[in-house]
Amino acid sequence: MKLNIALLAGDGIGPEVIDQAVKVSDAVAEKFGHEINWKPALTGAAAIDAVGEPYPDETHEICASSDAVLFGAIGHPKFDNDPTAKVRPEQGLLKMRKKLGLFANVRPTFVFPSLLDKSPLKKERIEGTDLVFFRELTSGVYFGEKGRKDDGNTAFDTNMYTKEEITRLAKKGFEAAMQRSKKLCCVDKANVMETSRLWRETVQGMEKDYPEVEVSYEFVDAVAMRLVQWPKDYDVLITENLFGDVLTDEASVISGSMGLMPSASLGTSISLFEPIHGSYPQAAGKNIANPMATVLSAAMMFENFGLAEEGKVIREAVNKALAEGIVTEDLAEGGKAYGTTEVGDWLAKNI
Ligand code: IPM
Ligand code: MN
Repeated sequence: MKLNIALLAGDGIGPEVIDQAVKVSDAVAEKFGHEINWKPALTGAAAIDAVGEPYPDETHEICASSDAVLFGAIGHPKFDNDPTAKVRPEQGLLKMRKKLGLFANVRPTFVFPSLLDKSPLKKERIEGTDLVFFRELTSGVYFGEKGRKDDGNTAFDTNMYTKEEITRLAKKGFEAAMQRSKKLCCVDKANVMETSRLWRETVQGMEKDYPEVEVSYEFVDAVAMRLVQWPKDYDVLITENLFGDVLTDEASVISGSMGLMPSASLGTSISLFEPIHGSYPQAAGKNIANPMATVLSAAMMFENFGLAEEGKVIREAVNKALAEGIVTEDLAEGGKAYGTTEVGDWLAKNI
């Protein structure tokens, strides 16, 4: 297969972890006879510094004309500590999601047998956890009308959803449930919010199209609690943008390391793959960042092209590295810590 992949390294540790994912993907391409044409483009603080814009039009053109986007991380402390900054890296991320129509953010949470004791949660609670969130990504309170009122001391953010937006996200969730254990949980706050009542009503209306799927409806506060208590009770979860943002960070703790969880953002025509961790500026340039989440994001990318075997060899290489202790310092625990590039080289060699 010939693949054109937009490569958005971004900020902080982004470039370092992206380099490893490229190395590993190239090894996969060579093994299976694919051709990957990487198309680097600017985003985030790096783009603001270069052209004054976190998601420049040129970057959008490159993304929109590619088969997929592989993304590192964005965010820089100089913006975090300046609430008056007019342009922020995160605006680029939101603009990119909107302009590319990346409406379904897929965030899996699973555990690695060799790392079960890394999680702050009890081993017997998390062993066997394998769940996936479908977070709506291009609407809700992130994109609703927001602002300040006259005196500046009153602020508002509007949450808004259309039936169409809920339906297309829920459809992805139902389809995933059909491929998995046929269990779907719709997470909302229908006891309080009108948007949530529309979510519930819409998903209830879709149940007849998927008679084999057992659907449950749970309030987001209860899910926040049950997720860490009984993660094995969940399989596919669907939810709105803000609830999904919060719950997926919480869920990443189950796996024991944010440095391991990949994600996909699916659009109508193009999809993007990225680690769920942030730009971790303190570690930038030190060759210590864990590249595995980005490498696993590349695995999701291959799988999304229907190349299941290619994804599998990447996952196997990562499992093997974890089992053999070829890990960065976040997972080394007194043992030898390998550098970002060394882990990447090892994975590429083991493809
Ligand atoms: C995420 C991040 C973003 C979000 C931020 C950086 C805007 O936290 O991808 O989850 O809130 O969606
Ligand atoms: Mn988040």
